[in-house]
Amino acid sequence: MPSARWVEENRVGYKAIYQHFRQQILAGHLKPGDRVPSIRVLAGELQVARKTVEAAYEILSGEGYFVSQGAKGTRVNPQLKLAAPATAPDAPPAAAAHLPVIENHGELRLGIPALDAFPLKKWLLISGKVARSLRPEEMITPPVMGYQPLRSAIASYLNISRGLQCQPEQVFITSGYRANLRLILAVLAQPHDKVLFEDPGYFFGQQLLKRITPHLHFVPVDQQGVDVDYLQRYHADARFAVVTPTHQSPLAVTLSLPRKHQLLAWAQQQHSWIIEDDYDGEFHYTRKVIPALKSLDTHDRVIYTGTFSKTVMPALRIGYLMMPQATIARFRELGEMLETGLPLLPQKILAQFLSEGHFYRHIKKMRILYQQRRSMMLQALEHCFPGLFQVERADGGMHIVAFLRRGTADHAIASLWAQHALFVRPLSAWYVQTQKRYGLVIGYTNIQSFEQARALLARVADATWALLAV
Ligand SMILES: Cc1ncc(COP(=O)(O)O)c(C=O)c1O
Repeated sequence: MPSARWVEENRVGYKAIYQHFRQQILAGHLKPGDRVPSIRVLAGELQVARKTVEAAYEILSGEGYFVSQGAKGTRVNPQLKLAAPATAPDAPPAAAAHLPVIENHGELRLGIPALDAFPLKKWLLISGKVARSLRPEEMITPPVMGYQPLRSAIASYLNISRGLQCQPEQVFITSGYRANLRLILAVLAQPHDKVLFEDPGYFFGQQLLKRITPHLHFVPVDQQGVDVDYLQRYHADARFAVVTPTHQSPLAVTLSLPRKHQLLAWAQQQHSWIIEDDYDGEFHYTRKVIPALKSLDTHDRVIYTGTFSKTVMPALRIGYLMMPQATIARFRELGEMLETGLPLLPQKILAQFLSEGHFYRHIKKMRILYQQRRSMMLQALEHCFPGLFQVERADGGMHIVAFLRRGTADHAIASLWAQHALFVRPLSAWYVQTQKRYGLVIGYTNIQSFEQARALLARVADATWALLAV
């Protein structure tokens, strides 16, 4: 159990509790099968809300570190195979040695843009200029809805690249996806409103909504994206549907055109809202870029949301939402009470990065690069794990969904790989109630060559086969 000193030093939130247990397990201090304190006991000891401990335990279970055994309590997953740490003499592959930045953060992580290909010099140049030109009046509170030139630059980008008709006054700049969801629901939702989410769906979206919406329901996803027939049959009365139409997260399928129209018609009839999460819509490879669902929305029922985490860098923490015209006044009024505006400097830097055209050039390059890196990763997977995985769709997104052809050991494999600093996600953790599929969700955007991908996977190949043979 964490000590009182640890509690004091860590200003306990769910993240600190999560990290504490994860570290204890990875360091071997907590062993597979060990019991951990119950949520009630730990919350009492740490003097934090039960929800805080619950949140940490849920993530630890989702990642496969913990298993809950009902009345028998919670344990460290007995099936967790703790392999030798990545620093063991045979572990680090030579090919990865010249990648210090990424190496420090673990490989194959989901949703990280290619850090080696980002035009950092340009970014720094603009940053310097912007910092030096800050005027005294800009040192006062930043505008709540965002820096005006950035709102305009985002509106033009959405019009040109995502096929929208967006006015600058419709853009509300936020710190990203979760801030978007929180703000939309705070402004537009009533406490009794039903909210729908895809199943499987983005792990952190699901976790956030579970905590902030009392009436959350799930809609299955198939080859054509979210199942709108199901939605209409069981949840036609819902007020919000959060969807990822361009590349479903995590399955990466694209919502079919008939379903797009069906979903829009539902929202129009019910006067409900569709929240479109277009997190990586730019990255479609074999066909042309797919226009956003919002571009078909003739009745202004779609609240479009986007982020610069995938196109620039996650650490920037800048995202945005496009307010339907009829809601702008409500967003402005409540926004003034709930939000404080983002720091001005990064917004100014980004605005210039967009208006000078660097952003567009960068995305264009990344489309080509990601396509190459994706195929390197697929080749390496087949090379190191012949016959083990099946990949259904290969034309979009920033990750590969490698379904296990047999078995259900995705949690165990992901935990094993994490021991070797390969941070993939077990697909089954993203399901709530729909029949689970098993596999790994693998980021490939920072893979620089087939050899590097092969070397990374070679770290874990023998141990993975051994695990599956048990
Ligand atoms: C499905 C999905 N939506 C949104 C985001 C972006 O989140 P944020 O804007 O908070 O970085 C991600 C990032 O991984 C994602 O996977």
